[in-house]
Amino acid sequence: MTEKVQVAIIGQGYVGLTITQGALLAGYQVIGIDKSDAVIEGLKSGKSHIEGIPDSVIAQSITSGALQVSNSYKEVAKADVIVIAIPTPLDSKGSPDLSLLVSAAKGLGEVLKTPKLIINESTSYPGTLRELIKPLIDGGSNQAHLYAISPERVDPGNKSYGVKNTPRIVGALSNSALDAAVKFYESFCEKVIPVSSAEVAESAKLFENTFRFINIGLVNEFAEIMSAMGIPADEVLAAAATKPYGFMPFHPNVGVGGHCIPVDPIYLQERAKEFGLTSKYIALSEEINHRMPKYVIERLILEYGPITGKKILVVGVSYKANISDTRESPAEPFIDNLRSQGAEVFWHDPLVSSWRGESSSPVSGEYDLAVVLVSHSNLSMNGWNGGPIFTTNFNTDFPNWKPLISVQQKS
Ligand SMILES: NC(=O)c1ccc[n+]([C@@H]2O[C@H](COP(=O)([O-])OP(=O)(O)OC[C@H]3O[C@@H](n4cnc5c(N)ncnc54)[C@H](O)[C@@H]3O)[C@@H](O)[C@H]2O)c1
Repeated sequence: MTEKVQVAIIGQGYVGLTITQGALLAGYQVIGIDKSDAVIEGLKSGKSHIEGIPDSVIAQSITSGALQVSNSYKEVAKADVIVIAIPTPLDSKGSPDLSLLVSAAKGLGEVLKTPKLIINESTSYPGTLRELIKPLIDGGSNQAHLYAISPERVDPGNKSYGVKNTPRIVGALSNSALDAAVKFYESFCEKVIPVSSAEVAESAKLFENTFRFINIGLVNEFAEIMSAMGIPADEVLAAAATKPYGFMPFHPNVGVGGHCIPVDPIYLQERAKEFGLTSKYIALSEEINHRMPKYVIERLILEYGPITGKKILVVGVSYKANISDTRESPAEPFIDNLRSQGAEVFWHDPLVSSWRGESSSPVSGEYDLAVVLVSHSNLSMNGWNGGPIFTTNFNTDFPNWKPLISVQQKS
């Protein structure tokens, strides 16, 4: 009887647990590693902490032994394939922070004493696998590992595209690493696209998200212009989107959030600076996207009147609809800005129970006004008995909510 291939996945968050699920369904023996005790304890008790990954997959795999989870890197030594899915955020100054990736690579170097296939799925600038991860792991383990990169494209909450049917790019530091990584992904992804180098794969990921970042900046700026002209931007964009080719709709909102869109372009920008270049598009989009919370508040004051001393309920604090992820959420600068103008601000989110040391407040009649930033499908405003409800959402099913980004349709 042949032994099952063992796959260790370092980091059991949005990306890592998604790959864990894909690998389990493909029949691999999976070792899930995470430094958070809470994550490990949750998984051990059969609970998934990521939307879209059912408890049943985790519970059954833990019970059958197909999934083992641990906070110790020692368990990784027995794996054949190692996938790294570690956060690559920005630091407090807004610059790339690779400290977690560095500590993971060092940790792997200490425990890997036989050659492995090591694949990075964390997003970073081109050159990260070759110049940072490989030297750190090799320095500790002194083995001839195979290195590849396959940037994750998971879109949390997306019901149409998951691990299986989202095409996957693979780059590597050698032909044998490329062959091995392609074979690994082909076992659970329908379409695998090998590229000529690790740097091509790393750059493709950054470009995908930079493309979104810049187009969101463009549409945010366009909505401001339309509003100043008294033209309903939502109708204009819906009309433009009827063109069947050469146009892709983006929607304005209070800013950009999440672990990818506001972060990845900055990794590209910082790397470009090392080559004496800067992307004007990235810099400008960053400026426009960052000023959206302030712009929305200006519109709110224009529509409602002074907000000093007003009791405001901000609804939806995650960075997008139907997920609980609050990382880089524009709700944060929005609320801070309202408070700095003397408003008394509370927030409600049916998917987020606590955030920044505060708890979600119930929808009730105690408020002067509400501003809906994110409209989850399970959001209910039942119990609302306060003043007007404003929204930064474009396509809302609630005709009584007053739009803050587009102007009202002329009747
Ligand atoms: N979330 C997304 O939608 C998404 C999509 C594509 C790519 N990415 C990229 O994937 C990478 C991972 O992001 P994520 O969203 O899964 O992050 P996450 O925060 O959801 O999960 C990361 C997990 O890694 C654990 N961790 C941190 N340092 C560790 C260490 N040294 N050793 C072991 N575990 C450690 C954390 O406890 C956490 O559970 C990032 O580079 C991100 O940019 C994310």
